[in-house]
Amino acid sequence: MASSIPLDTLKASLVHPPKVTSVKALVESTDFSSLIPSFYTFTHNLHDEPISDDPDDSIPIIDISLLVSSTPEEQSQVIHQLTKACSDWGCFMVINHGVSESLTKAMIASFQEFFDLPEEEKKEYQGNHVMDPIRCGTGFNPSINKANLWRDFLKCVTHPEFHSPNKPAGFSEIALEFSKRNQEVVTVLLKAISKSLGLEESYIDKAANFELGLQLLAANYYPACPEPEKAIGIPSHYDHGLLTILVNNGVSGLQVKHKEKWFNVNIHPNALFVQVADHLEILSNGKYKSIAHRALVNNKATRMSIALAHGPSLDTVIRPAPELADNESHPLMYVEMTYREFLELQQTGKLRSKFRLNSEQCKAF
Ligand code: OGA
Ligand code: NI
Repeated sequence: MASSIPLDTLKASLVHPPKVTSVKALVESTDFSSLIPSFYTFTHNLHDEPISDDPDDSIPIIDISLLVSSTPEEQSQVIHQLTKACSDWGCFMVINHGVSESLTKAMIASFQEFFDLPEEEKKEYQGNHVMDPIRCGTGFNPSINKANLWRDFLKCVTHPEFHSPNKPAGFSEIALEFSKRNQEVVTVLLKAISKSLGLEESYIDKAANFELGLQLLAANYYPACPEPEKAIGIPSHYDHGLLTILVNNGVSGLQVKHKEKWFNVNIHPNALFVQVADHLEILSNGKYKSIAHRALVNNKATRMSIALAHGPSLDTVIRPAPELADNESHPLMYVEMTYREFLELQQTGKLRSKFRLNSEQCKAF
């Protein structure tokens, strides 16, 4: 702790970004004080926005096993639950999914070992572009985002080609198994979601060319933060892709926006938390909306989460299903573009105003 440093010196050092490569290295450095560097101060006042306090409102739970082995009546019941979950919430918990708790725990432990590697070794995987197959770093996107986020990350493209760091030992094998099992869950969900939209079972699979779809395996590492109300893990955002699967290490921090209020998400150790993402919103012509979410930090424990983004194949043009658009009450709501173009536009920071058509453009279609 730095209690013996004169206050002025301390203040001056806080204004400039510390020469650290990760938040983890910052909090573990010997002169880390109980004040966070201003470089990490997030000006947005978290307490201005209401938190949901309705005890009867809870995140829908989908028993996915009923989609594959049950009577047609039970299946259509689950499909109905999915319609409600995707349209009312934009997220749901999946149970009985076949991704074993021990595999998820092993994946979290392997990511922990990766983050524990010496900074020099992690540097090898530092990348700047969203399309880099393996990318480790800190903050969000330093090139477009000035305030640093209280999180470190590692992202690997795991489908259609599998990439992973070759250390720590065993990481690759666990990551391959974990990403395959989750891809299977999403395959089942996309069929059911297609039906829930009144489309044929394979609609999304084909329209997104999901067999060659992009899967990104990302881990977020949020060290305990001495001033959690001043920092943010990840500010409010929407995920690209069709569906994101999220799990964490039992420490909460994820919030989703539901009915204009923030809702705390506690992910059960044996459940997968699934979020509707932008490309499902586009394909469904806005019937299902991608969900706004954010990650807060706390001053007690390190939080780790794994987010698996499942998207279309990069070069497939994604457009609303014609069946879900008409010239009267359901005009086309989205600009069509490939997933790759979408990601590139997102990098420029101009995406959200561009992919939704405005009312004038809607009329023109
Ligand atoms: C993300 C994300 C939330 C979390 O990685 O896109 O929203 O709980 N993560 O870490
Ligand atoms: Ni996200």
